Amino acid sequence: MLDMLKIKNLSKVYDGKVAYRALNDIDLTIEAGEFVGIMGPSGSGKTTLLNMVATIDRPTSGAILLNDKDPFRLKQNDLALFRRRKLGFVFQDFNLLPTLTVEENIVLPLTLDGEKVKVMEEKVEAIAERLGITEILNKRIYEISGGQAQRTAIARAIIHDPDMILADEPTGNLDSKSSRAVMETLETINKKEKTTMMMVTHDSIAASYCDRVVFIKDGKLFNEIHRGDNRQAFFQKIIDVLSLLGGDSHDLSTIRV
Ligand SMILES: Nc1ncnc2c1ncn2[C@@H]1O[C@H](COP(=O)(O)OP(=O)(O)OP(=O)(O)O)[C@@H](O)[C@H]1O
Ligand SMILES: [Mg+2]
Repeated sequence: MLDMLKIKNLSKVYDGKVAYRALNDIDLTIEAGEFVGIMGPSGSGKTTLLNMVATIDRPTSGAILLNDKDPFRLKQNDLALFRRRKLGFVFQDFNLLPTLTVEENIVLPLTLDGEKVKVMEEKVEAIAERLGITEILNKRIYEISGGQAQRTAIARAIIHDPDMILADEPTGNLDSKSSRAVMETLETINKKEKTTMMMVTHDSIAASYCDRVVFIKDGKLFNEIHRGDNRQAFFQKIIDVLSLLGGDSHDLSTIRV
């Protein structure tokens, strides 16, 4: 069980012809069961931050501690296992295997762990029911809609009961109706399973489902706001901070091409 995620003085410099400081001294603590949104203009470092928490990319300095432990100290194999068993990922472009069926995609993490077929079938059935995708379990990914694809991706992300879900613009490719369905699904998982969530988004409506939204600008923390009990009021506050944040208004649009 995840108690807490601590990000301490985290910096990331991308080497290259010209070194680029993508994150500068980020301090952020996320409590178990919290649903945290990360917002900020394009290029502000959101994906960089998420990728380091996901242990996909290494910090240049500072630390990421899960339950006071630094996953980057694990041996390579153990780190891969940690990532596969403790974390769940949801991406903008779904990252599903197009020629496999919905069911085959969902059980992929369990297949990798050598789970029994019977157990996998039971788990898929229960999860598909929850996400409203039972009818499409036997369809291939190229035969389903974007909203159905994202719900399939969420099913895959939660089938192994991860401690934390990391999502990078999960509604980025969805129309507003599918976006709401996806956000309601994530909200329910967060509330029922107490799964900790960290979600990068440009979408203010999606962000309004979070408990807290953290804004970054030019690789630094800019501000953070808490939801309280009124989602509509929170949505308005998010819009206000985004306009304070400035940047190209196109970057902050909820409609992305
Ligand atoms: N592998 C890399 N090598 C060099 N520079 C990189 C690399 N990845 C990202 N950057 C740079 O780091 C900065 C932050 O990138 P990042 O992808 O974290 O932004 P973002 O906030 O996720 O933007 P967007 O909203 O457009 O997805 C950008 O200026 C980007 O060009
Ligand atoms: Mg990004």
